[in-house]
Amino acid sequence: MRDAETTTVRLSEYTPPAYLIDEIALVFSLEPEATLVAARSHVRCTGDTPAPLVLNGERLELQSIAIDGALLTTDKYELEPGKLIILDPPVQFRLDIVTRISPATNTHLDGLYMSGGRFCTQCEAEGFRAITYMLDRPDVLARYAVRIEANKAAYPTLLSNGNKTESGDMENGRHFAVWVDPHPKPSYLFALCAGKYESIHDAFVTKGGRNVALGIYVDPGDSERARYAMDALKRSMKWDEDTFQREYDLDVFNIVAVRDFNFGAMENKGLNIFNSSLILADAETATDADFEAIEAVVGHEYFHNWTGNRITCRDWFQLCLKEGLTVYREQEFSADQRSRPVQRIKDVKRLRARQFGEDAGPLAHAVRPSSYQKIDNFYTATVYEKGGEVIRMLKRLIGKDAFERGMQLYFERRDGTASTVEDFIGCFEETAGRKLDDFMRWYDQAGTPALKVHGDYDAAAKTYHLTVSQRTAPTPGQTSKHALPIPLQVGFIAPDGAIIAGKAEGDDIARTEHHLVLNDAQRTFRFSGVLEEPIPTVLRGFSAPVTLDQNLTIKQRLAQIAHDPDPFTRWEAGQAIARGVLLGEAPEAAPALAEALGRELDRAQQDPAFAALALRLPDLNELLLAAEDPDPEALHISRETLRRAIASKLRDRLLPIASTPSETPFSPGADAAGRRSLKAAALDLLAALGPELGETFVTVFDGAQSMTEAMAALDALGASGSDKFDAALTRFYERWRANPLVIDKWFAVQAASPRDNALDRAERLRTHAEFNTRNPNRVRALAAAFAMRNPRAFHERDGGGYRFLAALAQDIDPHNPALAARLLTPFESWKRFDASRQAHARAALEHLAALPTLSKNTREMVERTLA
Ligand code: PHE
Ligand code: ZN
Repeated sequence: MRDAETTTVRLSEYTPPAYLIDEIALVFSLEPEATLVAARSHVRCTGDTPAPLVLNGERLELQSIAIDGALLTTDKYELEPGKLIILDPPVQFRLDIVTRISPATNTHLDGLYMSGGRFCTQCEAEGFRAITYMLDRPDVLARYAVRIEANKAAYPTLLSNGNKTESGDMENGRHFAVWVDPHPKPSYLFALCAGKYESIHDAFVTKGGRNVALGIYVDPGDSERARYAMDALKRSMKWDEDTFQREYDLDVFNIVAVRDFNFGAMENKGLNIFNSSLILADAETATDADFEAIEAVVGHEYFHNWTGNRITCRDWFQLCLKEGLTVYREQEFSADQRSRPVQRIKDVKRLRARQFGEDAGPLAHAVRPSSYQKIDNFYTATVYEKGGEVIRMLKRLIGKDAFERGMQLYFERRDGTASTVEDFIGCFEETAGRKLDDFMRWYDQAGTPALKVHGDYDAAAKTYHLTVSQRTAPTPGQTSKHALPIPLQVGFIAPDGAIIAGKAEGDDIARTEHHLVLNDAQRTFRFSGVLEEPIPTVLRGFSAPVTLDQNLTIKQRLAQIAHDPDPFTRWEAGQAIARGVLLGEAPEAAPALAEALGRELDRAQQDPAFAALALRLPDLNELLLAAEDPDPEALHISRETLRRAIASKLRDRLLPIASTPSETPFSPGADAAGRRSLKAAALDLLAALGPELGETFVTVFDGAQSMTEAMAALDALGASGSDKFDAALTRFYERWRANPLVIDKWFAVQAASPRDNALDRAERLRTHAEFNTRNPNRVRALAAAFAMRNPRAFHERDGGGYRFLAALAQDIDPHNPALAARLLTPFESWKRFDASRQAHARAALEHLAALPTLSKNTREMVERTLA
């Protein structure tokens, strides 16, 4: 293999750019198969010894290069794989490069490509180099002026970043538009869209009085379904002003929805591009989870305008600087728009489901990794979700006030720059008035710390000693681990629920809640004036992304469920009892758990969304991660057995909830969604009773006035093993066949259904006429739903699930490497299983590794997973 194919990029080898480009003018002459891109850049050398100028470029046809107007002869430059090297450039010059590209045949879905007959771009992380030769790195910030020319009838709308300054007709039925973005930006934030759209428009007046025109552009026929996204956008803009004093900075903010998109959405300056699944929603076609995701992601991309765009990353190792911080901002936004406790529980569930598994396997990496081959493979749960948790811990450790002042200092000081995590943390060192070296370890050390807690009460002395230790297991490339500063939010209650105060060492008053920090491998926290033996909670609000081994008795946990003032703790106590039952540590607790869930139902009307979360047992993936020698089939059976026991006991109370008629008119708000989520949780539990309730589920399905209820009924039909599942699926398909986002759900509900023969069904879906490896949503609806949401089938004993996933990745790799590589993520758990499963997983991965043409993206994933 060529060198360029195997290069590892290292954080320690960062060097500032030898040249900068301050201005760039682009002219696009759009044609599906032969688009011409003329780029005129103003280049200047940053040092005093002129060096060759090395520009990045991929999949480009070079037409011409000129320096200060003079064409360059071929002896003055070299073309290497991925590079254009200009050998002897002046210190400062005008560079004109013309390239030709073919968007219509670009299946990678990065650079400039076509989706549904419309042009669009995706440049993060390194897609701009597939448009023209460029210093394609985030620390090169340029002002962009973009002229787009295209056939007017075929492409009536022409969009790019910034403000539109000019537009008009040309000869031969063509027209043009010029967009100028006054804010210097790195190339990964460039965007262009052109085509026939339907759009909706609104306006937002910023607190400083700027009138911003808002537009959302979607496929013709879809515009009514963009209303919720528009509403979420306006709420995001207001929230960022109120919460972080961040105002929008252009006169236009546009969003374009595309059907073929590798990720969720992209924060291009002034022109966000979204996967249509995260824009389009109405009661009939979108679930409440979809509405929630739309609100969160619209917020997320908007919040990037400050955390990502105004202040960007110096290099891709700093990805968490924008992503972790923006996830944190998005979660806070969602918490403020909906229910804070429910949001927190959902965020923790997601972290545990996606990040803890990553941290525990061969793909474990730090929030700020130290090396990569393809940066596309590092858009991970660790960088995003754990990155968000790190910000939340920072706030806990230095306090709200120092955190808020630190954020403002960061916005002021780093505005307009490409920054590092050290630059960011440095602002908080100033406002908190102390060094944060130990905190930096959260960025550079991989793995989930495991906490052990032990309590000692001295009744005579009225003292309580809480001993907490931490240990992080070795991860690939990091064998020895340091102790991390772990914020603990501690509180005590009595068995009857009374709150027990105590005076912590060094504190002058007794408190009912303690904000402690575990800095060492082990520490004993001493409390005095503790009037009775307490039930301790150490991780209220999930104050740190750690696992906890606390050895509480069932009785103590039941008291927490009933009485702890912290909702996260009340939820977690129920989950912990369930884990104990399911992992065989405390099987005798099953009846008590069923009773406790009955009490949740008693108070469900106060907070249905919370009750719904409480009713859902830990999912199979979580159990597979927690078990010593995980046996997927056995754990599935014990989980179903427990669910059946609970459902039988609560049946008469669950049935009326499951059969509640749909509320009309539909509201996507948190309250109505919470009531629907309780209904869905009831259906889910009742499904454990088996096929006997099939008719009930069909009635719910047929009467459903929202997609949430329809999908919950379909899920129940699937999970219950009912033979009415297929007929319902057929009706669903016939009704929705014209709507691709709904047909994605049709694929996913089947692929995720834990029925016998799930793999056969998945195989059949793969040959279905509507299965399409070119559309990432459709691929994920089958592959990710199967491998991530149906662990019983994915880990099938004979290895069929592993082969299925690997074969799909193999199909997709030649045309979309980034997508293929990410599909393989579920293999991260393979080393935890028995020898026979391991052999099957290894064989599937080695088969991929042996393919001579495997992409760099997928090869990196396969090799890291096997290592
Ligand atoms: N930067 C995007 C986000 O998190 C994610 C993304 C990465 C999208 C790479 C496309 C390509 O907001
Ligand atoms: Zn992001």
